[in-house]
Amino acid sequence: MNEPILTTERLMLRPLTPEDTDAVFSWCANPQVNRFMVYPLYRDREAVARWLEQLAGQPGLVFGIALAETGLLIGSGGITRREDGAWDFGYNLLPAYWGRGYATEAMRRVIEYVRNELGGRHFAAHHAVANPASGRVLVKCGLKPVGTGTYSKLDGSETFPSIDYEMRLP
Ligand SMILES: CC(C)(COP(=O)(O)OP(=O)(O)OC[C@H]1O[C@@H](n2cnc3c(N)ncnc32)[C@H](O)[C@@H]1OP(=O)(O)O)[C@@H](O)C(=O)NCCC(=O)NCCS
Repeated sequence: MNEPILTTERLMLRPLTPEDTDAVFSWCANPQVNRFMVYPLYRDREAVARWLEQLAGQPGLVFGIALAETGLLIGSGGITRREDGAWDFGYNLLPAYWGRGYATEAMRRVIEYVRNELGGRHFAAHHAVANPASGRVLVKCGLKPVGTGTYSKLDGSETFPSIDYEMRLP
């Protein structure tokens, strides 16, 4: 999918390229960030470079979250259309930037884009019960808890009890 550049008051959301490898590695290799993410903890900078190289042309949107003022990349997010039509999203930021409303600001803008430009009306996400900050982001984006479940890391190393959220827009 061709990825747009989206702006908010404090942020710029933009496509990631292989030139961003060092910045992306800084959060992908951080165990504190990775704790509840499904992707494996990256230990190899080259693996991040390979991931960034094959991003263009993948379904869904993956975007870097940068500070508008300086252009500094502080995290990333993604949103993909599921088979049932719901747009499912996730996000992660460097810990130094947690607690300032950035994830909420970014995801509200992405939801607005998917709604206005791609016709999305059904949004979904989940978070680990043990990761309530992520749940707050979802609530502040307008999603509501609809059930519970579990999810596992892609390598199967860990499974987390989770809370499922949805939002249906008119
Ligand atoms: C989850 C994450 C993206 C949140 O980013 P953020 O920019 O700090 O989010 P925001 O500032 O927009 O909102 C965070 C909210 O969580 C709240 N919060 C933070 N820690 C919390 C905790 N331990 N318990 C409950 N609420 C918590 C904050 O107070 C804030 O809510 P408020 O605005 O009502 O006060 C960030 O913590 C992160 O990158 N974590 C690692 C990756 C991750 O777990 N991603 C989600 C995977 S499902």
